[in-house]
Amino acid sequence: MRFGCAWYPEHWPEARWAADLALMRAAHMNVVRVGEFAWSRMEPEEGRYDLDWLERAIDAAASHGIDTVIGTPTAAPPAWLTRKYPDTLLVRDTGRPSTHGNRCHFSPASERYVEFCRSIAAQLARRFGRHAHVIGWQIDNEYSVVSYDEATRAAFQAFLRSRYGTLDRINELWTTAYWSQTYDDWSEIPLPVGPHNPGLMLEFRRFVSRVYANYQRAQLEAIRAHSDRFVTHNFLGWFEAVDLDEVTADLDLASWDSYVGSGHLDPLAEGVRHDLVRGLKRRNFWLMETQPGSVNWAPVNNALNRGGVRAMAWHAVGHGADAVLYWQWRSALNGQEQYHGSLVAPDGRPRPVYDEVRALGADLARAAHALRDTSLVAECALLDSHDDRWAIQLQRHHADFDPGAHAASFYRALRPQVHTVDVLHPSRPLDGYRLVVAPHLHLCDEALAARLEQFVRRGGHLVLGPRSGMKNEHNALLPSRQPGPLAGALGAHVEEYYALEAPVALDPAGQAQIWAEWLEADQSDVDVVLRYGRSNGWLDGRAAVVRRALGAGSITYVGAWVDGDTMNRLAADWLAVSGVARTPAAHGVEVCRRVGRGRQVWICINHSREAHSVNVPFSGLEVLTGRRCDGALSLGPYGVAVVEDAAP
Ligand code: GAL
Repeated sequence: MRFGCAWYPEHWPEARWAADLALMRAAHMNVVRVGEFAWSRMEPEEGRYDLDWLERAIDAAASHGIDTVIGTPTAAPPAWLTRKYPDTLLVRDTGRPSTHGNRCHFSPASERYVEFCRSIAAQLARRFGRHAHVIGWQIDNEYSVVSYDEATRAAFQAFLRSRYGTLDRINELWTTAYWSQTYDDWSEIPLPVGPHNPGLMLEFRRFVSRVYANYQRAQLEAIRAHSDRFVTHNFLGWFEAVDLDEVTADLDLASWDSYVGSGHLDPLAEGVRHDLVRGLKRRNFWLMETQPGSVNWAPVNNALNRGGVRAMAWHAVGHGADAVLYWQWRSALNGQEQYHGSLVAPDGRPRPVYDEVRALGADLARAAHALRDTSLVAECALLDSHDDRWAIQLQRHHADFDPGAHAASFYRALRPQVHTVDVLHPSRPLDGYRLVVAPHLHLCDEALAARLEQFVRRGGHLVLGPRSGMKNEHNALLPSRQPGPLAGALGAHVEEYYALEAPVALDPAGQAQIWAEWLEADQSDVDVVLRYGRSNGWLDGRAAVVRRALGAGSITYVGAWVDGDTMNRLAADWLAVSGVARTPAAHGVEVCRRVGRGRQVWICINHSREAHSVNVPFSGLEVLTGRRCDGALSLGPYGVAVVEDAAP
């Protein structure tokens, strides 16, 4: 278990380092991330590298028992670079280049910039790649920006050429006869600004992901040539700019930063993001950054309640984090993030939250032995792809149809009833799952449909949500009714879809909101689970949810975005039918499970400010107190229990 913070030694006189590191160590920290954004200190002028200070910082940390993850500094190019080579600057969609002084002001598609990045990464790797206390690498930080410069446009055209081969194919698959979009020359294809052809817009998203994968690969090669330590990137989680599946494929480890912003931790909203990141490599992940109390960028930068920081860290660990790092140790005296929460105040002394973090560090150290070599095992998976989310996001059709919130509406019903839900790309193998839920399988081709049907026939239970099976990979409408290639297996189809101006009652109970599809059975063995009540005349009395037994399993289609209670009831039914083991949580207490060889570790977190006593269906040693837990737990406000038990 790694515990630590982002540390920026370049902001402080070296004489201060030892005091900071001693305070970190006293908080049981064993890792710092350094270097990301420090390019102007590492290469003060072109080709002149100064890494001695970094070595002294790494060695100083090591002398306090703290290892280092080095971040390559490429999210913040130095002023000399963009002044000398303005073609490396990011161009906004207005056509204006960005200026120096903020970060991420580079074009990730610029070959020149990529070569500068390769060089600085190589310098770092040559110097520190086998340093005994450098345990890993983070390439760049939070891939997010898109540049609209001419070189990027040419690269987009080349990307399309390699994917489609001929303009005739593009013209056909994007139906460019529409509004005279027909392309006669590759150079005519624009970068989309504002609404555009859906095929082109989706390809542009894929292109941006490919740009970042290439950008990352240059640094990855440079690092791997000199280092055998893990390489990761700090992702923004469920974020639109890049396809996390594509960009993490080359990395050793997935990691991300989780911040609440205003308000307090919503364990289900954050839980689905943790599970998504865990699903990228189907392995435990790192929480590379999280907030030590408050941030500086939210509408209201409130502090988490006392105890909330601790509960948030355990929440991440319960969902598969093997490391928790705070951003950041101490705010620089000047710079854009002065007001952000930190562990040490401007005077160099601990802030109040430091004590909570220190106690957490002690608990994590106590639990480290139990948590070693444990990971999460799920019987239930939720399918999620960037392609589906992008396609819906580009044409929501109802302003409130947020694809992230829609997928989360299924997770919110499932997760409180089971200890683990995996979030996976639809292309991943489904072996071992009893229940697979696809909240909106918008793009669906024959091959994917065939795999899902086979999963069902062999005994799996599949749930499809609204907007499923509507389009192909080119973001073109399928010439069939939803769910397209799965309609045969379902024995039913979508007769029509409606964006709802007001909620519609469901029969026998519940409400549809935002979206409703009129389902029509094509086979006599299709069961109608829910119907619409009185509505716009079209939906009245029509099927809203249908289910069909098929082979040894079943397939269910949910045609509407249903309210929380209805979703809870539906989910309980799917879990019962598929035989997924239930772990009911109670009174705001979340139950997570990590499994090791011959043992399991239950992490129980009270996410509320009230004390709760709950009964849990397991017993064993509670490792934080050293007492035995016999199935009854009393958790104080934001209290946590970690119970180690023999595996069933
Ligand atoms: C993250 C970023 C950090 C810091 C932090 C503040 O998104 O990676 O560098 O800016 O936000 O909350």
